[in-house]
Amino acid sequence: MDASNIRIIENPVICQSLVLLRDKATDSQSFRLAARKISRILLYEASKNLPLAVKEIETPITKCRVKDISDDINIIISPILRAGLIFTDEAIDILPNACIRHIGMFRDEQTLKPVWYYNKLPAEIDNPFSTYVYITDPMLATGNSMLEAVRLYAEKNIPVKNIKSLNIIAAPEGINLLHREFPELEIITAAVDERLNDKGYIVPGLGDAGDRMYNTVAEQIKV
Ligand code: URA
Repeated sequence: MDASNIRIIENPVICQSLVLLRDKATDSQSFRLAARKISRILLYEASKNLPLAVKEIETPITKCRVKDISDDINIIISPILRAGLIFTDEAIDILPNACIRHIGMFRDEQTLKPVWYYNKLPAEIDNPFSTYVYITDPMLATGNSMLEAVRLYAEKNIPVKNIKSLNIIAAPEGINLLHREFPELEIITAAVDERLNDKGYIVPGLGDAGDRMYNTVAEQIKV
């Protein structure tokens, strides 16, 4: 694994939240809260690549020049449904000008390949060189869905250095797959785990993020 374009964010709040996410005894509400805390930190990290512009404002005391996120850029948050949604409330809090473009893919449990069912991207993106995209999925496992999503944006001429993969836990297999095709793609994650098991789950991981988040674990066990 080439460490150059993988940013592992370590801090005590992330450690504490990861414990809750990994612990199978954590209930769904606590799981969502912990996932949101980590998402927020990853989004702050991602936002470091946004260009700044200087402008003049007036405080109650005087005029002053300040730095702000440039008005000349577009920010797209692209959650991969459904687990990637956990990032969206945090994202629109932090980046109120961002637009949310949902991407719907599910994983075929036999082939582990992504199957498209929803794509909210416009046919063309205006000003692709000033567009910044954060694709969110808590689990970067095989990397197949994320790869499809990155391709979708890269094909619209958005520079790969403007695209980021935001993941709570990443597996080496997914990282390698993404970096084979897109070495410039930055992956921002809270942890890199050991490996995938034969069902494509991350080990030790946290199980199925979507099921734990949306309280559908029991349903899945029944079928
Ligand atoms: N998706 C999940 O939710 N968990 C995994 O471990 C792998 C993919």
